[in-house]
Amino acid sequence: MFRVAVLEGDGIGPEIMESALAVLRQVEDLFGIAFEFRKGLIGGRAIDERGDPLPEETLALCRESSAILLGAVGGPRWDDLPTDKRPEKGLLRIRKELDLFANLRPAKVWEALIEASPLKPEIVRGTDMLVVRELTGDVYYGEPRGVFREGGRRVGINTMRYTEDEIRRVVRRAFEIARLRRRKLTSVDKSNVLEVSGLWREVVEEESKNYPDVELEHLYVDNCAMQMVRRPTTFDVIVTGNIFGDILSDEAGVVVGSLGMLPSASVGERYALYEPVHGSAPDIAGRGVANPIAMILSAAMMLRFSFGMEEAADLVERAVEKTLSEGYRTPDIYSEGCKKVGTAEMTERIVENLKRLKG
Ligand code: NAD
Ligand code: IPM
Ligand code: MN
Repeated sequence: MFRVAVLEGDGIGPEIMESALAVLRQVEDLFGIAFEFRKGLIGGRAIDERGDPLPEETLALCRESSAILLGAVGGPRWDDLPTDKRPEKGLLRIRKELDLFANLRPAKVWEALIEASPLKPEIVRGTDMLVVRELTGDVYYGEPRGVFREGGRRVGINTMRYTEDEIRRVVRRAFEIARLRRRKLTSVDKSNVLEVSGLWREVVEEESKNYPDVELEHLYVDNCAMQMVRRPTTFDVIVTGNIFGDILSDEAGVVVGSLGMLPSASVGERYALYEPVHGSAPDIAGRGVANPIAMILSAAMMLRFSFGMEEAADLVERAVEKTLSEGYRTPDIYSEGCKKVGTAEMTERIVENLKRLKG
């Protein structure tokens, strides 16, 4: 019995979670296993119902579970709240409380979706990169922070801060992962300007001595953003701090077709949380048109990394691929000549293909 905490969150969160659960229920049938799904509140709905974006009982539920699935949090309803009372704070707190220091964001181009990328096919074809984003440090958590009065005017302050241990543990993870892939690591920083980035680069250099078999490249973040659209196929694993990783992974999403396709795993030594890279998409929430694939692929990552179910994870990914190659598209990845479908139909097609492929 695998215990899974299910945190739907806000906006399209509940819609795409329903899709992931439908896929996992089919996996239960096909592989003769059982998940115990237990729902918890997070984000805006948790603020409305409990007055806290991460209620204690949700945190307890996560600690008692073998893995956590998260939809997305946030929305215009809560945008006027102060930063530390917003839905997003629930997400930042859960990452910190569970020490989920490495966020793995794979961005691989799907042959069927080459047309969905705004880049030319010859530039994106073959792209297969993995952004390893540090997730529990940086300017997201650094102190001091706030808006203060100074000399009669307001000053906003945030602090970019990393200890060498925080850098080292995520960099090691990235080197280890690069070893399982094409053995190339790109470390991204802004060490031409920032001291904290200087330290980042030094630690990466020190660690690289333990991984002589992995080719190492350093890029400044501005240059990396540019190279990612110019030569995306040359990236394998990218390791970077929290804020640069946030920005670069959205960019990676659109390079390979749509943010609606990008899954992620946030892992530490003990816990693992699986969440799409995208947000709660308030502009399309409640309309039944959200792309469920990022969430479904996040569930596949859970099967692989938390439960060791390699075959089931492969099957889910192949079912997604088959559904795309049959021409089914949600609006975000639609191109001419394809069949436009909503969240529910996309999910049904994927579930159907799971059954077919398992044979
Ligand atoms: P967003 O990722 O929610 O949306 C950006 C654009 O991509 C929108 O046009 C949206 O419609 C589209 N999009 C995103 N996911 C999609 C999907 N699955 N299918 C189809 N289209 C999709 O980013 P935003 O609009 O900047 O933020 C909206 C809210 O989400 C904010 O409150 C933000 O803080 C929050 N957010 C949460 C998370 C998270 O929970 N992990 C991540 C990012 C943003
Ligand atoms: C993400 C999101 C979050 C982040 C926000 C919602 C706090 O953008 O998961 O990428 O910045 O980490
Ligand atoms: Mn983001």
